[in-house]
Parts: sequence; structure tokens; C-alpha cells
Amino acid sequence: MCGIVGILGHEPVAGALVEALRRLEYRGYDSAGVATLENGRLARRRAPGKLKNLEAVLAAEPLHGTSGIGHTRWATHGKPTETNAHPHANGRLAVVHNGIIENFRELRDELRGKGHAFESDTDTEVVAHLIADAMGGGLSPVDAVAASLPRLKGAFALAILFNGEEDLLIGARDGAPLVVGFGERNGDIYLGSDALALAPFTDELAYLDDGDFVILTRQGAEFRDARNQPVERRHVKTPTSVLLVDKGNYRHFMAKEIHEQPEVVARTLAHYLDMSEGRVALPFALPVDAAQLPQLTIAACGTAYIAGLVARYWFERFARLPVEIEVASEFRYREPPMRRGGMTLLISQSGETADTLACLRYAKAQGQKIVSVVNVATSTMARESDIAALTLAGPEIGVASTKAFTCQLALLACLALAFGRARGVLDKKQEAELVTELMAIPGLMAEAIRRENRIEMLAGNLSRARDVLYLGRGTSYPLALEGALKLKEISYIHAEGYAAGELKHGPIALVDKDLPVIVIAPHDGVYDKTLSNMQEVAARGGRLILITDADAPHDFGGDIETIAMPAMNVAFSAIVYAVPVQMIAYHTAVFMGKDADQPRNLAKSVTVE
Ligand code: M6R
Repeated sequence: MCGIVGILGHEPVAGALVEALRRLEYRGYDSAGVATLENGRLARRRAPGKLKNLEAVLAAEPLHGTSGIGHTRWATHGKPTETNAHPHANGRLAVVHNGIIENFRELRDELRGKGHAFESDTDTEVVAHLIADAMGGGLSPVDAVAASLPRLKGAFALAILFNGEEDLLIGARDGAPLVVGFGERNGDIYLGSDALALAPFTDELAYLDDGDFVILTRQGAEFRDARNQPVERRHVKTPTSVLLVDKGNYRHFMAKEIHEQPEVVARTLAHYLDMSEGRVALPFALPVDAAQLPQLTIAACGTAYIAGLVARYWFERFARLPVEIEVASEFRYREPPMRRGGMTLLISQSGETADTLACLRYAKAQGQKIVSVVNVATSTMARESDIAALTLAGPEIGVASTKAFTCQLALLACLALAFGRARGVLDKKQEAELVTELMAIPGLMAEAIRRENRIEMLAGNLSRARDVLYLGRGTSYPLALEGALKLKEISYIHAEGYAAGELKHGPIALVDKDLPVIVIAPHDGVYDKTLSNMQEVAARGGRLILITDADAPHDFGGDIETIAMPAMNVAFSAIVYAVPVQMIAYHTAVFMGKDADQPRNLAKSVTVE
């Protein structure tokens, strides 16, 4: 995850920018840079590698400006070189960016056609040229930003500094966090990826909502929403001592972690994809001959197991690789025979779950190659695996797994495509198309998050239910299991997930007017089949809630509540549909006054059998 900082101050800001970037080092980065206004003219210093390299450049060529922006970059598009490091600048402005601009190729082609010359491989540079282009057409910096933002697809946070504008800094947020800090000294104003970056300067903060942009001057902050209308954003005080486990503007960590997903999924994808080339680029060699592998074994617990269930569809479809998957607590005692030289995949957020770890050790003893998908790099499972493939979700504090789950899915999708290529199932074009679909996921998740108000409205009704049934087909079937698990876990309402086709083989006996039935049905090849199952529910008076694409027809003659998701390409819809599923559980629990972060009887890391 890249880090962003910006300052309008009264003293030279370069040192303070680097100090703030140092507090963002935990997010991971591979190059860094700052830009300031030197007597009104933009000047920048950038360096690949750690901040000490940037400091050395600054020592050799100091900057003295009192307005500036800084950035730590985690490479997505293009290598971690000085040229690709942020800020990206042209004669009019400099910009730093966190996230992915999904439509950067189209925009770059369009801007090249208008004579703009690009110097880096990054997606970010199109933002600089897009805004400059609008300014070239006569718009003011603020109007140029307002006109350019709607053209950007993806998930992003931006900070923009303008040539000749000593008292102007603009920030924008859509799917990646950004916070404004108000300095103790009148007129010092800050922008940062998180409160931690701004801790040395201020504890008075205001968070941007998705779709917002903010115009900062030394007189204050003017927030505008996605329709370019002025909006108020609440000022909050966040003491430095709590910043390391900061909930930001959210009531619970779970809410914060749900909202972080576009950013952390983008970060995870960036680690396993070469976005410029449109291909999977694993940072390790597969430990087996993928072409010869007869079968893949997966073991995990809880939500991580459900991630494995979703991935099974992808491994089988994109790599034609048979998958055996089981919950770790059963697998370990079944003592299945395993072929030497085969591959076992363990999935775990913590990397410490006792049953999953026991499977790892069992499979290793059987001569299997071990790949673990873990979120904690220093965990026991990471250390004991042949390959530890890291999800880059950052610390997950809420007991209910949310962002770790979607990062697991993102990583598993990349692995499935890597196997598909290695096994000769996917050709270059097919791989590129699927990678393009994956790159769209963070933006779609940001869109999905905007359905939150609708979901909150449904939660009140759900909170009165005694039981809830979740249905889905294909990859939405494991999501139905996840929806039920999440709801049980934090609201204590009894819930079950079923394959929609199983409905008439038993669970339909439960259906009556008091049973909410949540149907997860992206508009895909099995959508019509799921509609038939919904008819069966409606005919028995069941209360249907359908989560589907906005353009999906659902006129099937029964009463229904819908959660309309953005229309999307279907292969990886489970990653996006996880968002409303998590939000349903969260808002129902909150409506009922439950502690969503620390549900009763549950622990974050289950290190006992
Ligand atoms: O750390 P792990 O991913 O191995 O944990 C596995 C399960 O304990 C975990 O996913 C659990 O089911 C969560 N509380 C679900 O939200």
C-alpha cells in the first residue's frame, strides 16, 4: 500500500514530509519521493529503495518550499525506479497516488493523441496529464480536478500540488483512505493516508468519504462530494496513543476493515500481477511442476476454508486442476494418503490456527510441497512452508474476518491463473482478459461499498429474524456459507448457507413468512436457475432478499427486496459480492447492539484444537 502525505505550512516542509512518510513505512514500499513549491515552481526529489535514499538525495539537493506532497510507492504499474516513483509531474502540477487507475490505458492513449508525452510506466501519470489537459482548456485547478475525477475508474487516493499555487493542495478519495489534519498553529494543514502519518503534527482530523475531494488552503478545508457539491465532514480528535490501532471514523474495526478492502485487495493484486503487461507475475517459482500436478489439496478453517471453496472453482475452471478441499480439523485426523511431490495449500489469516498448522505438518511429512496463503509474514505457517504467499491485508483486528478473506480470494485467483498458464490451459490473450477483470475488482468493491445505506435499511428487519437462509450457486455457494457464518458469528442469529439447487432437497421445509432468504446471485450463467429457486421460496411466502447486478432481471412474480450491485464481468464476482454479505452481518449485529469486533466466545487466532 502506498503512503500519501501533503502539507501546507509556514516552514520548509521537506523534512516533515519525510518524517510523515517514515510513519507510513509499515504499509510497505519500494521507492519514495517529495515535491515542493520552490518560489512558486514545482521541484521534486525521488529515489528508489528506502527513505534513507530519498534523504540522501534531499541532502545533496535540498528543497526549501513550505507547500509539498510526499509518497512512498508500492510498485503496481512498472518497476520501482526513480522514473516511476511519485510525485508525477508536468508543467502544471504534481500528483501522488495510492490505488489503481483501472482505465489508465484508454486515458493514456487519448492523452497521447492530444500530444501529451509520458515518461513513466505508471497508471498515476495519466492523472497528472488529465488534470493538466483540463487546465490547458482554461479550467482553474479546482475545476480541472472536479472535471477529471469522474473520468477515473478504479480505487484511489490522490494529493495534488499546483505550479504557482503556494496556497493550494487538493486531495481526492475513491476506494482508498485519505484524511485531513488541522495543525495547532493556525494555517498549517495536512493530508495523509492515515492518522498515523499525521500524528507528529496534529490530532484534529477529518476523514474524506468515498467520492469526496477536498480543497486545502491555509484558511481551511473545503470538502466536496462526488457531485462537486460542498459537504461538511466531521472533525474528530484522535490521541496519538490510540493511533496504532486506529478505528478512524468508524464505529468498529470491522467496519473500517470492510471499507479498506478496495485498497488492500488492490495492493494484494499488485503484488501478484504485472498490471502493465496484463499477466500474472508471482514473486516466487511454483514449488511443483504445475503441468504434471494431478491434484491440489487445500485445507483451512472457518472463513479461510470458504476462501478455499471459492478458489476450487477457479483452479478447476482456469487450470483444469482437480482440487480436494476439507476443513483442517477433519483433514488432519482422516490421515489421507498423499503423493510425494504433490502440493498442499493451506489458507490462514493468522498463520497460527492449530488445525491448519497440523495439516501443514502432516502434508509435509507425507512429502508434499507446502504453499501457505497467510496474512502474517512472521507466523509459524509462513515459516514452516516451502512458499509463504502473503495476503497484504494489513493487521485485521475485528474477530470476524473480512479484508483477509477478500485478499485471500484475490491471491488465490492469481494462483489459479498462474496454474492455468503453466498447465497450458490459458493462452496469453485469455490470461490478459482475466487479469483485466481482476484489475477491475478494487473499483467494483468501492462501488459495492456505496450500497451500504441500502443494506443498513434492511438490517433492522433482519435483526428480528430467528433464522436466516443464504442461497447461492457456483462461487456464490461458498459465499452463502460465508454470509451465514458471518451473521451467526456477530449477531448470534442462526443462519445456514445452502447451494441453491439443494433447496428442494430439504431446507425448503423451513420456508415460511418469518424466514428471510438471502439469495446471492450475480447475473451469470446460472442466474436463471437461481431465479427458479427463488420462485419456490416466494410460492411458500418466504421473505426474499436478492443481491444481484443492477441490470439483472428479477421480475419473477414474487415480493422481493434487492441489493443492486454494479454490473460486472462474472469470473471473480465472489470477491465483490463478499462486500454486501459482510455488511449485512455487520449492520444487523450493530442494529441489535452487539459488539461486532469482539463477538462472544470467539478468538481472533484459534491456537487450540
Ligand atoms: O487465522 P485463520 O484464517 O486460520 O482463522 C480461521 C478461522 O478461525 C477464521 O476464519 C474464523 O472463522 C473467523 N472468525 C471468521 O470470521
